[in-house]
Parts: sequence; C-alpha cells; structure tokens
Amino acid sequence: MTAGGSGMDDVEAVRQAVDIVDVVGRYVGLKHAGRDYKGLCPFHREKTPSFHVSPDKQVYHCFGCGAGGDVFTFLMRYLGMSFPEALEELAGEAGITLSRGSAPSGRGKALRDITEAAQAFFQRSLEGDGGRGARSYLEGRGIGAEERRTLGLGWAPGGESLCAHLRSKGFSEAQMVEAGMASRSDRGRGVYDRFRRRLTFPIADRRGRPVSFGARTLGEDGPKYLNGPDTPIYSKGSILYGYREAREAARDLDMVVLVEGYFDHARLYLAGIRSVVATCGTALTADQARRMGGISDHVYVCYDGDDSGRRSAVKAAEVMLSQGLNPRIIPLPDGSDPDDFVAAEGAEGFMDLVGRARNPIEFGLDLVGGWEGARESGRGVEVVKRLVEVAGRSADPLVEETLFRSLSESTGYTMDTLRRERDHLEESSRRSPGEHPERPPGPSRRDSTLLWAILSCSAEDRGRLLEAVEAADFDTETGRGAFSSLQSQFAQGMERPALAKMDPSQADACAAILSDRAAAAPEDVDRVIARVLRRRMREQRRRLGRRLAEAEGVEKRKILEELSRLSGRLRETDGGDGG
Ligand code: UTP
Ligand code: MN
Repeated sequence: MTAGGSGMDDVEAVRQAVDIVDVVGRYVGLKHAGRDYKGLCPFHREKTPSFHVSPDKQVYHCFGCGAGGDVFTFLMRYLGMSFPEALEELAGEAGITLSRGSAPSGRGKALRDITEAAQAFFQRSLEGDGGRGARSYLEGRGIGAEERRTLGLGWAPGGESLCAHLRSKGFSEAQMVEAGMASRSDRGRGVYDRFRRRLTFPIADRRGRPVSFGARTLGEDGPKYLNGPDTPIYSKGSILYGYREAREAARDLDMVVLVEGYFDHARLYLAGIRSVVATCGTALTADQARRMGGISDHVYVCYDGDDSGRRSAVKAAEVMLSQGLNPRIIPLPDGSDPDDFVAAEGAEGFMDLVGRARNPIEFGLDLVGGWEGARESGRGVEVVKRLVEVAGRSADPLVEETLFRSLSESTGYTMDTLRRERDHLEESSRRSPGEHPERPPGPSRRDSTLLWAILSCSAEDRGRLLEAVEAADFDTETGRGAFSSLQSQFAQGMERPALAKMDPSQADACAAILSDRAAAAPEDVDRVIARVLRRRMREQRRRLGRRLAEAEGVEKRKILEELSRLSGRLRETDGGDGG
C-alpha cells in the first residue's frame, strides 16, 4: 500500500497534530486502563474489552483479534477510507493545509473527475431531447424537475455517447474502464458505455462527491438495476447511498432509516425524511452498519413487506447488533415497500409506523405468526433457536439482555435457559470457524524481535540497526514486508512510521509489537544486531559445508579456511542465545 504522492512532512505534521485517543474515542467507548485506554473492539465481536489504545505510542491494538495500527489505519479500516482520504480528513480537522499533490492521490483524482464529468453529462441528457421518455417516467412516479435536480438523477443515453464525451474531455479509455463508466468490447478493441438507456442515480462518497452510479432500466431489457463495479474510489461494501445528507438530517430527526432501493430512498427523502440511507444492491456489511451507528443511535431497518424483504431485514439487524447497535425494524404492510407506503400515507403515516417499530426479536416472532403461531405449526423450538442466535449477535451486553428478556417474555423460556442455549450456540460456532478471512501468517518470534527493535529504538540507534539488518534476515512474508516498508519510510525521514502504509497484516503485527513491549534500549539494539550477524554466519557455514562435500583441490582448501574463520568468529561472539 502506498500513499500516492503524499509528502512525508504532511504525514508527520498531521500525526503530530492529532491524538489517536481523541480520534478513536469518537467511534469506540474508551476507558482509562493504566497508561492506555481500553474499549470493546470495533473490528470483532466481543463482550469484554480487549481493544487498547496507547497515547504514548499513538497506536491501537486488539488482543482479541489482532487488529492494530495507527490513527490513519484506524480511519481506513473503520470508515473504509483510503490513506489519502484519511490524511485529508485528519489534516482538515487539524487545520493543516496539505502540500499540493499529496491528497487525493493523482489516480483517485482522475477517477473522481471522470465520475463527475459523467454525472454532469447524465444530468444534461436527462434534461435534453433524448431524456423525454425518462422525464415522463419520473413524472409518473411523482418526480418532477425540482426533484430530479435534488436527487441528481440523470439519463444514460447509451451507445458510446458517454465514452465520446469523456474522450473529448481528455480522459483515456483505460481511465474510463477503471472508473467503471465503460466496458471493453469483446473483441478487445475500443470501449462502450457501461450504462445504456438507463436512469442514473449518483452514488456519493462521504464528502458528497459522485463516485459511481446505480442505473435503472425503464423497460424490460437486462436486470432492473445495474450498479457500477468497485473501483479505487468506490467500494460497495463501505459506502451508504445518501450517507452525507442523512448524517446532516439526523441532527434534527435523531434517527436513521436503512432501505434497500434507490426509489425507496428517493421517496422518503423527498417526503422530508432525509436521514435515510440505502445499500447499493448488496447485503448490509459490518462497515456500513458502523457508519449508520455513527449517524444516530436510533437505527431502523425498513425493507419490503414481503417474505424475502422481511428476512433480509432480520439479517441486516443482525449485522447491526454485531456492531453494538440497537436496531429496530419498521413493519410494512404485506406487499408494500417504503416507496409505496410513503406515496400513499405520507411522511406522517411513515412516522407513525416508525413509532411502532419492533426490536429484531419481536419482528422475528411476528414473521412466524407470533409465538402461538410458531408453536401451533410445530416450529417452536426451531424459532427460539434462531432468535437466540439473533439476540446473541449483540455486541452490546445491555442490548443483548433486553433482547433475551423480550424473547423470554414472549416464549416463557427462562432467561437462564436462553443464555445456556446461546453459550451452546457460541461453543459450536467456535468449533467450526470459517468466518475469518484468510490472512498471511504473522511474523515469527525472531521477526517480531527485529521489528520491535526497529520500531521502538531511539533515532540514534536506528541508523546502525537499519544498516545491519536486511530483508533476507526475516523468516516470514509479513516480517519482510513490514521491514521493507519501515526501511523506506525511515529513509524518507519519517520520525514515526505510518503503519497505514503497510498491508493490514503488517500493520497489525507492528501495532501488536508496540503494544506488547517496552522500548528497545541501546544494549537491546546491540544484542539484536549481534544475533542477526551470528545467524548469517551460521547460515554461511551451512552453505559452505554443503559445498565442501563436492569441492576439490584449491577450492576445497579455500572453503576449509573460510569455515575455520567463521567458526572462530562465531565462538568469539557466542552470546549463548541459540537463536
Ligand atoms: P427493488 O426492485 O425493490 O428496486 O430493488 P426499487 O429501488 O424499489 O425500484 P422500483 O421501485 O422497482 O423502481 C431494491 C434494490 O436492489 C438493488 C437496487 O439497489 C435496488 O434499488 N437491485 C435490484 C439491483 O441491484 N439489481 C436489480 O436487478 C434489482
Ligand atoms: Mn420499489
């Protein structure tokens, strides 16, 4: 991971200006614990805090899941930002002006420019002759000229019209494809528009800049919606459609509603319920759930009033629970969606429904015709098990307790029984792991010791250390990668390395090392260097030994001399470390 053209001075200046405890503390409840702060880890589900933030070292580390890094990595992982975005965000807060070309990175900038140009182009074509059909379609759904503008709707005429336009603006085909605006033709020659004859909804990043589109057909051709692909500036799993306006509106409305469809979003928004967000054609992710929690403590799910919509609503609520939120589900009448409902009942009708929102357990029970209904159909146990699973997702113990109480009251099972069932479920899910994505193995102990010395020694000691150690001295990919990154960062004059510039596994390892041990003293550095040299000599001796077997004459003599010299030096420097 590299930072594009970020100047080291900028990174340093921003780091000096912000405090990791302050930044992390906005998203994670932190309490004093000795010299550190401690809280529930936002990166995995846990009930006792193992997430540490160190003000001295300006790093965080979770002893539960191993996540760790610095203030930049935290924002990158927690809010899904890129490094330049995190830098820009923190610089903005600290009132630091970044030197030119430092953020956003050049590549991201071009992609943003393309998407912005596409947005302007789509909006213009909706208002032009070619957009007549789309305009009348929208009128039919109660969306007139003013509303079109408010929502930023557009019309993608298709063919190669967007590509031609972008080309005239000086963008290359490769850039159009990378931005997800164009596809390469089958024969590999030329490009054509990705969105053809479709109504476009601009998807904005957290700063309100368009980064992609959702596009609806007006006819029967192809899927109803086409979504832009993930690109360097757009990640479906972390962006929420409508995020920025929702965050703003939540200050007054004190809630945020999650819907599934672009039109559901449009209808609520236009009706004045502006703290509404939507996913872009994918299931809600943990990242998105946390972002919703950042908008308001009162989070609601409002999916279609059919079987599949209701089941998805429970799933979305589970993701929210796992992120420590306390979600409620808004029950829509059979067969209606948020769009229909608000069109018929208005914002007032909708707010009434919000008042009658159900917690995930109540909603789940309603779904099977209530507890009586479930028992009568012989599915009682099955239903309780599933709901114990739902309640057990809670990362917040108070929410969990409330949900278990709710389940206990409806079903008559005692709290004790329900909790035992939960423990049982957790036990069996621990036995079948599989949720954790594949990661490269962490650094070996030797690698950790080397990294520890490099990361924590004083600036005076660092020079000779970096001179002595080389990438080949590391056993693992993670150790080697972290070392190379540190090496180049120090070479560029960084006082404290930016863990955000490393791969996540490398950053985790470094943060763990920093959290675990005291700083390396000069004599530690000497010892580490001595060990590295000794290890190299031992390896050299092994290599020579192998060559000796085949060597003859002069060469053999040379090898023997070299071997005895090596053994002599090894004996001299024997520190008894065995490593
Ligand atoms: P809906 O079919 O409910 O769409 O799909 P909608 O927004 O209510 O649109 P209208 O009212 O029928 O015009 C909900 C969401 O699922 C995703 C889109 O994000 C859509 O808004 N979706 C749906 C797709 O990504 N692809 C599809 O083919 C259909
Ligand atoms: Mn709809």
